[in-house]
Amino acid sequence: MCGIVGYVGTREASELLLEALEKLEYRGYDSAGIALICDAGIVIHKTRGRIADLRRIFDEATDDDGCTVGIGHTRWATHGEPSDVNSHPHLSKSKRVAVVHNGIIENYIELRRHLEQHGYTFSTETDSEVVSELIDYCYSGDPVAAVRKAEQQLKGSYALGILFSDFPDQIIALRKDSPLIIGLGEGENFIASDIPAILKHTRNVFRLGERELAVLTAQRVRVLDIFGNRVDHPVDHIDWDAAAAEKGGYPHFMIKEIFEQPEAIRKTLAPRIREDLSIDLGFKRLTDEDLKGIESIKITACGSAYHVGVVAKHFLQKNLRLPVEAVLASEFRYEDPIVDEKTLVIIVSQSGETLDTLYALREAKARGARTVSIVNVLASSIANESEEVLYTWAGPEIAVATTKAYSTQLALIQLFGLHMARIRGNLSEEEVKSQITALQKVPEGVEKLLEDVKSVQYIASLYFNCQDVFFIGRNMDYALSLEASLKLKEISYIHSEAYAAGELKHGTISLIEDGTLVIALCTYRPLLEKMISNIKEVSARGAKVLAVINESDVQTGTVADHIIRIPECADIALPLLTIVPLQLFAYYIASLKGCDIDKPRNLAKSVTVE
Ligand code: F6R
Repeated sequence: MCGIVGYVGTREASELLLEALEKLEYRGYDSAGIALICDAGIVIHKTRGRIADLRRIFDEATDDDGCTVGIGHTRWATHGEPSDVNSHPHLSKSKRVAVVHNGIIENYIELRRHLEQHGYTFSTETDSEVVSELIDYCYSGDPVAAVRKAEQQLKGSYALGILFSDFPDQIIALRKDSPLIIGLGEGENFIASDIPAILKHTRNVFRLGERELAVLTAQRVRVLDIFGNRVDHPVDHIDWDAAAAEKGGYPHFMIKEIFEQPEAIRKTLAPRIREDLSIDLGFKRLTDEDLKGIESIKITACGSAYHVGVVAKHFLQKNLRLPVEAVLASEFRYEDPIVDEKTLVIIVSQSGETLDTLYALREAKARGARTVSIVNVLASSIANESEEVLYTWAGPEIAVATTKAYSTQLALIQLFGLHMARIRGNLSEEEVKSQITALQKVPEGVEKLLEDVKSVQYIASLYFNCQDVFFIGRNMDYALSLEASLKLKEISYIHSEAYAAGELKHGTISLIEDGTLVIALCTYRPLLEKMISNIKEVSARGAKVLAVINESDVQTGTVADHIIRIPECADIALPLLTIVPLQLFAYYIASLKGCDIDKPRNLAKSVTVE
């Protein structure tokens, strides 16, 4: 995810900005840049690559020493490939306004067209360039007025750092739906996407509120709301140690990423759902006619991404009335798969580089199948080689055990399923719209679950010493059990297995003994009665049962030892909500056991061998 920094004070801005950007490297990025206000006006240095490359360019090119005001940026490419020209900061063609941006400007095409009609030209593929030109267009001597006027025309999410050459002693900051903090120093002030960037210089910070604008000079920070009223924020004193700060105050990246899920899901869905609830996937090769002609679907992936496929299989099959199969990528390649031009192969991969998955994609293409990939990393091999790509906008995932990539993949494949159901006429327009609306509410539901983690922590404290855990569920809940079980075993090293609840008694029930923990997922309403019977079967053999249930379920709590409730929601939202307490359960167990949570033994984030 992009990172923003800004400095206004009396010290050399360039070194300070470069160091601050290094502190944001953990967010993941592919290019970086800084803008300084110098005697000659605004000077930009930017490049594709690492901060070290930026330092080299700066050292070679510059006489810009002595500048004390500037902004900087690390870019994690979304619109437009990682390249020098697409890197931030963006300087308006008039050279009056420089901008760094984190977020996505959803109406940038429309704004670009409008500005082009007024003689503006564009040189990048980014959505962000439109911001510097739009502010320039709105500028007639008053920078605050210009930014406020421009802001009214922006749709989407943005944290912005802005320089005006006419006002060399100040930075303007603005935010909506993307984070931005203000740091207060002695005779100097800062902006940053995250606290680690400026922790070396100040521990006094506050978060800029939604749609608030801040004007920073060396001596003061003035904050205004959308109507131009003054806003006063209480200042927080940060007392983290520096190592923890890299994780934004969280002890591990995994828990940070679990808490980032509402934002990640929002960012993944929002740009694809228009106001009238039509869906825009931006496909260029796979037409509606092609999708109408599809006769079967195969979803292929590895690990957690495969588990997304297993959940999606149930969802797609039910809504499209087509045969849908989830296949492990490492098997698909060698099973002489039956696919042809009437088969849609969906490839799911966070990294976009998993070798088995890449080979499965190539196999599918070689046999004539139509291909869509769901990928988190821009311009990765799988994204490049598939016919169409749908990016999850989850931001960089650093913990080896996936959480936010999993949930954004799932949300996106469901949205894709609704798109297909609409064009194929499987669902009524009313039904499609109601399911889209339910998907849009998922981030709120996840936020609600994350507000209270105490009950999950308590249950984890009872079982962190256990040897074996069995997860059971039916239909969608079974598919989720696979992921819940993998999460637990990969980070806590506790042996766990997921079973279709009806299957346990065909062998594995012999392993249940006094005190064995069985986690029963009971959210799939049509088969609740059957799940209750399965809980009774394991309880009768001494198991302790933790049941994950719908809020309105009054039956299951009476047969289980512990319960976790999932807030009431539509069926389409259930898997996206249900997985959250199970990710937390795995995390808290591993934490109590003192495991190396972010880097479990033997595991790598991106698996590029077969
Ligand atoms: C488990 C996990 C892995 C990945 C798998 C595929 O928490 O993260 O199972 O899901 O290695 O990786 P990608 O999605 O990068 O293809």
